[in-house]
Amino acid sequence: MSKPMKLHKHAVKTVVVPAAGLGTRFLPATKTVPKELLPVVDTPGIELIAEEAAELGASRLAVITAPKKQGVLAHFQEHPELERTLEERGKDEQLDKVRRAPSLIRAVPVEQDKPLGLGHAVGLAEEVLDDDEDVVAVMLPDDLVLPTGVMERMAEVRAELGGSVLCAFQVEPDQVSNYGVFDIEEVDTEAGDVKRVLGMVEKPAREDAPSTFVATGRYLLDRAIFDALRRIEPGKGGELQLTDAIELLITEGHPVHIVIHDGRRHDLGNPGGYIRACVDYGIHHPEYGPSLRRWVAELLESD
Ligand code: G1P
Repeated sequence: MSKPMKLHKHAVKTVVVPAAGLGTRFLPATKTVPKELLPVVDTPGIELIAEEAAELGASRLAVITAPKKQGVLAHFQEHPELERTLEERGKDEQLDKVRRAPSLIRAVPVEQDKPLGLGHAVGLAEEVLDDDEDVVAVMLPDDLVLPTGVMERMAEVRAELGGSVLCAFQVEPDQVSNYGVFDIEEVDTEAGDVKRVLGMVEKPAREDAPSTFVATGRYLLDRAIFDALRRIEPGKGGELQLTDAIELLITEGHPVHIVIHDGRRHDLGNPGGYIRACVDYGIHHPEYGPSLRRWVAELLESD
């Protein structure tokens, strides 16, 4: 049974988490372990996403998985045997850790049997939505956006301006070809962190990019996105792109805005970004942080 909409503080019930990728940038670790389960300090990346989704007030995590990636869903199920053992041994702290993921949010699986692109993956989630859901959030588990809270800000902007709201970061010009890039104009709001989107293009060449503001893994999309996703053709890389469905909505007059996030971002999908995320979480960790800071400083000094 899903919770009624009025119990969702930001009127977002479902967060879609595309997790069907092969994790090729992370081999050999991802030969048998889904990259979404790799730990940042001690917590799998996807549990951090679930925590952020729960903070937003969502109650359902629609996890898009590939046929051989069931382990991702298992992380959100109870584990009675392990729980019993920990209970018998009086390991309460560890028991809490085991129980945490299932208690945060209800994860439901959506299987994507062919890797046809992010747009295709998101489109599949429509089947799990209730009739009263007029918006869906998408969080890409490769992107850690810190500090959390940007989704709440995006929900506020949607409440004020309607339509769809995306999270943006500004990157160096030589980085734009890795992202969905926004064509933007100023908008008259009190806070300076919102811009109107005039167009969006997936991974353009540097010279064709309309700006250096890029999409970064957090989307609040009007339900109209599903209809748009059914109407797009394969785009960049021969895949169905979420960016192209958003661009289609814009050309049809649908309002799209970005919230420019002033914070940090880590790309967990590749070892370089993942190491940074571990260092960032590690040095801020109450237990490991103080000694890690000292050790890193010493290491850098002696290097
Ligand atoms: C995806 C999106 C892209 C976005 C990026 C953010 O690309 O297609 O528009 O900017 O995520 O991380 P991917 O990194 O999956 O190739």
